[in-house]
Amino acid sequence: MIRKNKKALSVLALAASIAVTGFAAPHSHAESGEQTVNWTREQVSKIELNEDNTLPYTDISKLDKMAPGYHIWDTWPLMDRDGNTASVKGWKVIFALSAPNDVLPGKVHDIATIRYFYSKNGKDWTLGGELFPKGTALGQRQWAGSAMLDGDKIHAFYTATGPEGQPQLTYEQRIAAATGTMVADKDGVRFENWDKHRIILLPDGKYYQTVEQAKQGEGGGYAFRDPMWFKDPQTGKEYLLFEGNSGGTASQRQFKPEYAGSAEYLQQHPVPSGAVHANGNIGIAEVVGGDLNNIKLLPPLVEANYVNEELERPHVVVKDKKYYLFTDSHINKYAEGLGGPEGMYGFVSDTLIGGYKPLNGSGLVLANPSDNPYQAYSWLVTPELNVVGFAHFGDLGSMSIGDVGNQSPEFQFSHFGGTLAPTVKLSIDGDRTKIERILPQGWIK
Ligand code: FRU
Repeated sequence: MIRKNKKALSVLALAASIAVTGFAAPHSHAESGEQTVNWTREQVSKIELNEDNTLPYTDISKLDKMAPGYHIWDTWPLMDRDGNTASVKGWKVIFALSAPNDVLPGKVHDIATIRYFYSKNGKDWTLGGELFPKGTALGQRQWAGSAMLDGDKIHAFYTATGPEGQPQLTYEQRIAAATGTMVADKDGVRFENWDKHRIILLPDGKYYQTVEQAKQGEGGGYAFRDPMWFKDPQTGKEYLLFEGNSGGTASQRQFKPEYAGSAEYLQQHPVPSGAVHANGNIGIAEVVGGDLNNIKLLPPLVEANYVNEELERPHVVVKDKKYYLFTDSHINKYAEGLGGPEGMYGFVSDTLIGGYKPLNGSGLVLANPSDNPYQAYSWLVTPELNVVGFAHFGDLGSMSIGDVGNQSPEFQFSHFGGTLAPTVKLSIDGDRTKIERILPQGWIK
């Protein structure tokens, strides 16, 4: 990604925009019902690796390959309609993005397919196969999602990336669903009787950027993906959370002081104009009346305008009547002038909609250690506060992740995990989190 424009916005211009917009407005969508909060540059500037948030070094070359013959990465457990980790006849099920293991790590996203695994003990997983019959899923390839079990019906949500049937790969993303039947018996688990896959959510261009808008001078990544089922225990209403980008084109994204933080911070830390390209957000849509064919986009819960361009795989865990909203982001997705680790980040609020504040002051919850900065990624917190992630790239020395693709295939394969990482037990106390301990690889309680 090219970010050459280092010209800082002038303090005068900022002062003018402050005068117009009013200071320290906590929300970025006046018309949104006050629900959208911007993760600020000031909060991000407080990111610090410490023993509560930094993972111990993992030698990823020593991990078991979970799926012989396949690389796997983003993983999610089957949940029931209330969001609990499901167990059917003693079987737990996980789903993972996968690709044959002779595919170079940098190419796996181009041919991602969802496979599932089942286990009695939540530790030793048997590969069940592809989730959907060949040729039935939408998109050129399928990216992350979630799966909810209601009786014996499984509702699978996923990202349909690229238009199916078109040979040229594109980054268009649509949110899709399909409903099937889960069959569990003494031998294992299978899924049958899938109905016709359907697109259930598209970006509106207002709150959520369309791929056409992103093509107009964005320069960064694009996201409308990673649907995650959530039922609010307080209201019983059901939702999908997802990763998006703020709507509009880069040139329409005017700087607002609330993206930076306090007046003092802004005065001392002028915002580079290249930061305009960062527009990650955490989207939410209501499943109206529990009807999976009636899903209504709502304004985002969190935006990271001028802060970060990818807030991946967002999901909520409720604890002590508080809503904990987690998301993953990369070192190279921060806006110009900011930095943070490959990590899992989080926010807390007393309500599902609105009022989110970053956990631990900065938002950082889990980080890879600085001597192995890419060892794991794509973490997901279960209701039991077990954090499941995958082993990514290990022992790269000082190489940046962007350089891995220039190395020999042997180097790339031997430094790539492509399997589940050790599970992490998290503890939460109010707005503070802590790594409690490290559990076995791929362990789901
Ligand atoms: C995170 C991610 C997801 C996406 C998938 C594509 O690792 O970028 O947001 O669905 O990988 O492979």
